[in-house]
Amino acid sequence: MTKRIQFARTGGSEVLEFVDAAPVDPGPGEVRIANRAVGLNFIDIYFRTGLYPAPSLPSGLGTEAAGVVDAVGQGVDHLRTGDRVAYAQGPLGAYGEAHVLPAAKVVKLPDTIDFETAAASMLKGLTVQYLLRQTRELKGGETILWHAAAGGVGSIACQWAKALGVKLIGTVSSPEKAALAEKNGAWATIDYTREDVVERVRELTGGEMCDVVYDSVGKDTWETSLDCLKPRSLMVSFGNASGPVEGVNIGILNQKGSLFVTRPSLNGYADTRERLEWMAGELFEMLESGKIEVDVSHRYPLADAGQAQDALQNRRTTGSTILLP
Ligand SMILES: NC(=O)c1ccc[n+]([C@@H]2O[C@H](COP(=O)([O-])OP(=O)(O)OC[C@H]3O[C@@H](n4cnc5c(N)ncnc54)[C@H](OP(=O)(O)O)[C@@H]3O)[C@@H](O)[C@H]2O)c1
Repeated sequence: MTKRIQFARTGGSEVLEFVDAAPVDPGPGEVRIANRAVGLNFIDIYFRTGLYPAPSLPSGLGTEAAGVVDAVGQGVDHLRTGDRVAYAQGPLGAYGEAHVLPAAKVVKLPDTIDFETAAASMLKGLTVQYLLRQTRELKGGETILWHAAAGGVGSIACQWAKALGVKLIGTVSSPEKAALAEKNGAWATIDYTREDVVERVRELTGGEMCDVVYDSVGKDTWETSLDCLKPRSLMVSFGNASGPVEGVNIGILNQKGSLFVTRPSLNGYADTRERLEWMAGELFEMLESGKIEVDVSHRYPLADAGQAQDALQNRRTTGSTILLP
């Protein structure tokens, strides 16, 4: 028997159960990973609450972990038993001692990157890779606005933007979070609990405003974010921490300056093994060169996943949180 977290109904963190699960053998094209460290992500909360429906219930949870391959299905040729690996996509169930998933979603981990760093950065770092390098390929010199700049994705974004020569203005909810974002390379920060975000962006940019806004907060920040953009520039809405953006009249994009908007996902960018390998290669290079240092700020036993989710949902975390099986 192995242990895993599952939920049989949607709701608060109390619906998460720590249960015994019979080991599953990998089918054709699949591998089984013995997880050593599991990543905690906001998307896990969306599935637990039902904002994103799980394919069936009871369901496992989580999509990000690092560990060792302990069984290989037929037709898998790029992975072998004993390989150190990481993953950030695939069927729900990473919150467990073991997980079976398509081998195409799994990449080998360089020896220099430890399991905790990988579990803390795979999903969040690949997300930053596509947002800064693909959704709009930033060249350096741009000014961008990034909400939740001291969070898991935000902490990596601050460092990656700095490495690209991009001026990242980060929003945060406390002086401690501002200090962390600045330490990570944010060009400036705005504490939205006591400052007007649009006015501060205007001051900081000399009235020019931003080339791209990256908004993972959703409902609460949608209009503010549009007001921080230059004419004809890009709004990237990539999350729902405060709830989803709904009921939008697209005429608002005209009123706010002929804006572009996109609602991207990691699965939409890392959609083939070749693309995943390329994106992971860029992330690993950033980690190995020291341009990005991952802040594993919080560690919880896997059994306490609910407590970890409550901390993330209630804005009590900074950087990345991992769960230890
Ligand atoms: N589309 C994609 O491909 C993709 C991939 C990965 C993550 N994401 C999204 O990126 C976001 C960040 O994920 P993460 O796991 O790294 O989380 P996180 O940023 O570590 O935590 C969320 C942060 O959002 C801010 N926030 C603002 N309003 C909030 C509210 N009403 N409730 C909760 N938090 C609020 C808080 O920072 P302050 O206290 O500083 O405001 C909080 O710490 C999430 O929205 C997630 O869904 C999207």
